[in-house]
Amino acid sequence: MRPEYVVHTAQEIIKIRRAAHMTALARDRICSLVHSGMTTKDLDNIAGEVIRSMGGEPAFLNYRGYPGNICISVNDEVVHGIGRHDRFILKGDVVSVDVGIAFEGGIGDTARTVYVGNEEDMPEDVARLLEYTQKSLEAGLTAAHPGGYVQDISRAVEEVAQQAHLGIVREYVGHGCGIRLHEPPDVPNFAQHRKGPKLVPGMVLCVEPMLNLGSHKVYTESDGWTVRTRDGEPSAHFEHMILITENGTEVLTRV
Ligand code: MF3
Ligand code: CO
Ligand code: CO
Repeated sequence: MRPEYVVHTAQEIIKIRRAAHMTALARDRICSLVHSGMTTKDLDNIAGEVIRSMGGEPAFLNYRGYPGNICISVNDEVVHGIGRHDRFILKGDVVSVDVGIAFEGGIGDTARTVYVGNEEDMPEDVARLLEYTQKSLEAGLTAAHPGGYVQDISRAVEEVAQQAHLGIVREYVGHGCGIRLHEPPDVPNFAQHRKGPKLVPGMVLCVEPMLNLGSHKVYTESDGWTVRTRDGEPSAHFEHMILITENGTEVLTRV
């Protein structure tokens, strides 16, 4: 039977912490290199160089057959966008960058969404999307503590998303992480009936709200990967990895 959750050893946590820190640096470096006029394939190539120059391996590449170094999801693309030669990034776009790195036995996984262009030009609804997706993530991180439950995280994310009238993607969820990219448990961005596993020291979780400006409904494109909103409204994705400790939580992907 699939275990309900994974508790990592002290030795594993040392590796996971290093990989997560590297992934956070790579995420911010890659985001800083996003500019209008480049293609998403250009960005994916740059991401591969950034990751390898740090000594890491792109953890998403070949994962279940995924063909990119990272995931790049533009505007109505929610997650799992693959870099393409014919997909130009333009001013006014909202670009989600999701980075996974394998480094010396540990795995890091973190995501961020950036606006292309001057902040002052950002439409109000896009600013709300980005601000509240980030706030929902922070609420989820704050809600996590040893002795609590996965559901505490889910509920906290959901509350912020609902207050901001953003659609919560249901088909994709956060997850355990650390030695493998996806480990149990699931960490949904909405409260379910079950409390889910208890949070205990040594658990490593990725909390990753995917919120839409419009409806929560999504579909997968014919490439088999790219997930898009049904109504064509933009979507945002922020992801951090946390370690549950004896005293609280440590965010492993904050720099
Ligand atoms: N980035 C996703 C996550 O955060 C996983 C991407 S797997 C890939 O869990 F194969 F699509 F790259
Ligand atoms: Co991710
Ligand atoms: Co993840």
